[in-house]
Amino acid sequence: MLETERLLLREWRDEDREPFARMNADPRVMEFFAATLTAAQTDAMLERVQAHLDRHGFGWWPAELKETGAFVGFIGLAVPYFEAHFTPCVEVGWRLAADHWGRGLATEGARAALRYGFEELGLREIVSFTVPANVRSRRVMEKLGMTRNPADDFDHPRIPEGHPLRRHVLYRIVTNPGLASL
Ligand SMILES: CC(C)(COP(=O)(O)OP(=O)(O)OC[C@H]1O[C@@H](n2cnc3c(N)ncnc32)[C@H](O)[C@@H]1OP(=O)(O)O)[C@@H](O)C(=O)NCCC(=O)NCCS
Repeated sequence: MLETERLLLREWRDEDREPFARMNADPRVMEFFAATLTAAQTDAMLERVQAHLDRHGFGWWPAELKETGAFVGFIGLAVPYFEAHFTPCVEVGWRLAADHWGRGLATEGARAALRYGFEELGLREIVSFTVPANVRSRRVMEKLGMTRNPADDFDHPRIPEGHPLRRHVLYRIVTNPGLASL
């Protein structure tokens, strides 16, 4: 379990299923994904998320607001399942229910996830990616100190050619960047 000032990133519980499904069915939340998810698709996603956690010991953790116990979304680290010029790698990612946007929660939780990745997992680099239009998510990446090189932009191999969500921007952060100059 990871703890920040306002959040707990913890294990999944059965009671997360309902607010998770509600979040995945919200068109505002899924604006930059191919489609909203049905309850059955959320169940299938939960199985994949749990399998990733079991396999790697890290993954998309549910984020709970400490003050109220509310499920606010997920934040965490994951191994992308597709091949691209920057894989294999570990990504940091987030998806929050719209009621909880704009209070710095994604950035706060992601900062703890990055620290875990660098300090506990010993990763050298962590990436993040999204479509160019997802300015909220890109802003989180920038606030985390991640940087984008336009030469890293890529076409997501799981999204069909010609689809408006195919092009992606990639952000990276390296631990102890100062070491590179030693
Ligand atoms: C992306 C997401 C997690 C951000 O969560 P959040 O808790 O609101 O993020 P934060 O509050 O930490 O930061 C959001 C930043 O975006 C900025 N922002 C919000 N709307 C914006 C807009 N329309 N244009 C530019 N910046 C915007 C905010 O001002 C804030 O930056 P600031 O702190 O410098 O003011 C949330 O919007 C979300 O879940 N979106 C849907 C799912 C998704 O797209 N996930 C990412 C897939 S890669």
